[in-house]
Amino acid sequence: MNAARLGRARNVDDVRAAARSRLPRAVFDFVDGGADDEEALRANRRQFEAYALSTRVAVGAAARDQSRRLFGRTFASPFGIGPTGLAGLVWPGAELHLMRAAEAFDVPFTLSTVSSVGIEEIGAAAGRPHWFQLYIFRDRAISHRLVERAAAAGFETLVVTLDCPVGGNRERDLRNRFTLPYRPSPAGILDAARRFSWLMQMLRHGAPQPRNMMEAARRSGAQTLLAFMEGQLDPGVTWEDVREVRRRWNGPLVVKGILSPADVRQALDAGADGIVVSNHGGRQLGAAVPPMVALPRILAAAGGRLTVLCDSGFRRGTDILKALALGADGVLMGRPTLYGVAAAGEAGARHVLDLLRREVDRGMALLGCPTLADLAGDRIVAHAPAERGREAQPVAGPGY
Ligand code: FNR
Repeated sequence: MNAARLGRARNVDDVRAAARSRLPRAVFDFVDGGADDEEALRANRRQFEAYALSTRVAVGAAARDQSRRLFGRTFASPFGIGPTGLAGLVWPGAELHLMRAAEAFDVPFTLSTVSSVGIEEIGAAAGRPHWFQLYIFRDRAISHRLVERAAAAGFETLVVTLDCPVGGNRERDLRNRFTLPYRPSPAGILDAARRFSWLMQMLRHGAPQPRNMMEAARRSGAQTLLAFMEGQLDPGVTWEDVREVRRRWNGPLVVKGILSPADVRQALDAGADGIVVSNHGGRQLGAAVPPMVALPRILAAAGGRLTVLCDSGFRRGTDILKALALGADGVLMGRPTLYGVAAAGEAGARHVLDLLRREVDRGMALLGCPTLADLAGDRIVAHAPAERGREAQPVAGPGY
């Protein structure tokens, strides 16, 4: 994608359209799709329409500060890049591009356990410490070894994902006969052939592999990589496993995939420093509650004892401001910067971060909030469509 076209992408949806036109359908669907009937995927977007923000005027917001301190480090914006496995499917070395874009915009970057660039390669290329996401695999020794490697490579914060006891039922992938390592089906070959720039990259660099897992996969003797990965997801994971990881990791520990207030207590008991309220972008349980719906009760349960991050469905600066106005400490995103990389590599990821940063800044000006702390109080109102005609109710403020 050339610079002029990138410049014409005015919002994340435009970048998604650019990604769609550059990727083979099976790859776009792997990134874009959700589980079951994709009801959580849709609800994740609709949830934002149930809230509106209330403005204050003439507050003197000439200078605006959207920086946010998370886990002992101040970031330039209150949002960051969440973990997305096998990002190399959309662009060779995608994780390096995502990391560099995150560094340029001074926002968090999270490397997935199943990244297509290895832990050590990212660590060596990094200009500052980043976050590493961990799955607790059936063979616990594999996960514990990943924890050691992440620490040795200089990662700072560990994000343990708990919402993948089994794989989600992603029917787009089944229909497209999507496999790992990626090998297009006969119909897919025709489609991939029409995506010339993507195809040339893949021919030059080869299909991406989950670099951190290759040795373990080889030793396992599993028939295919996909069979190995699926076999390693473990519905038997318990909070005791999280405690074991806690014992092995000295830095900040975050658990990802929390949707219930009851699990907040468990996370606290396991020694977590933070949580990510997330339904995995609608990719796991198709009927999962959207994070913005779960967030108020989770914040009440957390009572300020944990850093509360949120993801799933964020596409606009105002989406981010709504979560912060409810009391979240920060927002992560998976697909937006992945669409950016798919469209134009690092420049595409930077473009997405730039759009979001500008949208947050404009939103703060329009809201009359020189700082994010000014979002506290009665700035957010619930106005579910069913309640139209009734007076909107302020949502209880977070009390920073
Ligand atoms: C993901 N997600 C994810 N999460 C995780 O903990 N480990 C992983 O390896 C992956 N892999 C992954 C791949 C792809 C293609 C996507 C789209 C997502 C979930 C991700 O971290 C995040 O929770 C969601 O993407 C958030 O929703 P949005 O921002 O994509 O709407």
